Amino acid sequence: MTRIAIFASGSGSNAQNIAEYFADKNEFSISLILANKPDAYVLNRAKNLNIPSFVFTNKEFQTSEIVINKLKEHKIDFIVLAGFLLKVPSNLINAFNNKIVNIHPALLPNYGGKGMYGMNVHNSVIENKETESGITIHYVNENYDEGQIIFQAKTLITPNDDAESLASKIHILEYKYFPEIIEGAIRG
Ligand code: GAR
Repeated sequence: MTRIAIFASGSGSNAQNIAEYFADKNEFSISLILANKPDAYVLNRAKNLNIPSFVFTNKEFQTSEIVINKLKEHKIDFIVLAGFLLKVPSNLINAFNNKIVNIHPALLPNYGGKGMYGMNVHNSVIENKETESGITIHYVNENYDEGQIIFQAKTLITPNDDAESLASKIHILEYKYFPEIIEGAIRG
């Protein structure tokens, strides 16, 4: 049994989609959902899904062992960042070496790095009149969006698209691919 923790900062629609994908797979359990904001909607989803949750502050995350201790308490083996916007500190990366994956809503290395998250990414892609965007699923290292890439998928951008419609296209790709790529990364 692989026990998975999901970190999210906001809505958590990917977290829910991942939880639903793994719900009927006996070798996997979504065992904990963690958020860095007490009002993050992902916490409501965790409650509805009957998954334990844990909230921490940015400072606790960066300067203490609280989060690592919580992960140990729940015997977590693998971590998924799904719409999680904080930089992961090195103590956590070292404790889960090659066992943390993130999804980024663009084709890295383009549109990555600090400040490039959520709608900021889609606004920049549209402003630059790109003709395609996509998703990148990658291992997490100490630099934003620079870990080894596991998978990318593309979507076309039409002249009618705006940041909102692009975000919807990206979410569709995320829901389709992220759970199975997580499963593959765990199975190795
Ligand atoms: C997702 O599109 C994800 O790729 C993005 O935030 C969104 C969260 O949506 N992540 C980043 O921008 C990370 N740099 P959700 O909360 O509905 O899953």
